Amino acid sequence: MLFADTFAMPASSSCGVRSYASSSFLASLGLDENHRTSFVGGLSESEPETSPSARARIRLSGRPMAVRTILHYPDARLRQPGKKVGSLTPELRQLIDDMAETMYAAPGVGLAATQIGEPWQIFVVDCAAEGEPSDLRVFVDPELVSTEGVVIFDEGCLSFPSAREEIERAAKVRVKAQDREGSPFELEAEGLLAVAIQHEYDHLHGILMIDRLGPLKKRLLHRKMLKRADAGAAASG
Ligand code: NI
Repeated sequence: MLFADTFAMPASSSCGVRSYASSSFLASLGLDENHRTSFVGGLSESEPETSPSARARIRLSGRPMAVRTILHYPDARLRQPGKKVGSLTPELRQLIDDMAETMYAAPGVGLAATQIGEPWQIFVVDCAAEGEPSDLRVFVDPELVSTEGVVIFDEGCLSFPSAREEIERAAKVRVKAQDREGSPFELEAEGLLAVAIQHEYDHLHGILMIDRLGPLKKRLLHRKMLKRADAGAAASG
């Protein structure tokens, strides 16, 4: 799977982020501009008309899933690290299902539990490109075993609506975690999936994409988000 530079949000969505891969990078993957994908928290620019419901058709359980509210920076709850899960309970499986539903509805390619105010070490990602089958992956108590190389992605985040920033990440990661059934697994990822894993892993430790920016960009994004929060507060009375 692939690389994208941005987690993007279609104009019609209220939150999300985008990342787009550079043309040369895409070319190196044998892809073209039409195959840009976006990163966690985002959608690719090539798929602005994606119907969230199309990919949200997966039903992980017989129970209804719920779309939860995604917290936006600078909400202090985004800074609260997730607790280790250990053994999954039916309630936490329901939380995982809600997270997947919320991610698809946003739409985004990744979501951490801490982004919906649930301080658990759980995140979900689905980096499947438009037209490909869903590739929902659930990470419970994830640990980064190793990282390799460097890549710069234009990332977005559902907690930083409409923001896009170039962020340096490891090009390849090896991660171990439990899946939704509590089965341990180890996975080596590169490209968009590797970036998404690192971005979501950061969320579980209270680390946000703004923390990975230099001083100037950090200030600008902080200001932009405060302005947005003020505008939202004013609009809602
Ligand atoms: Ni994020």
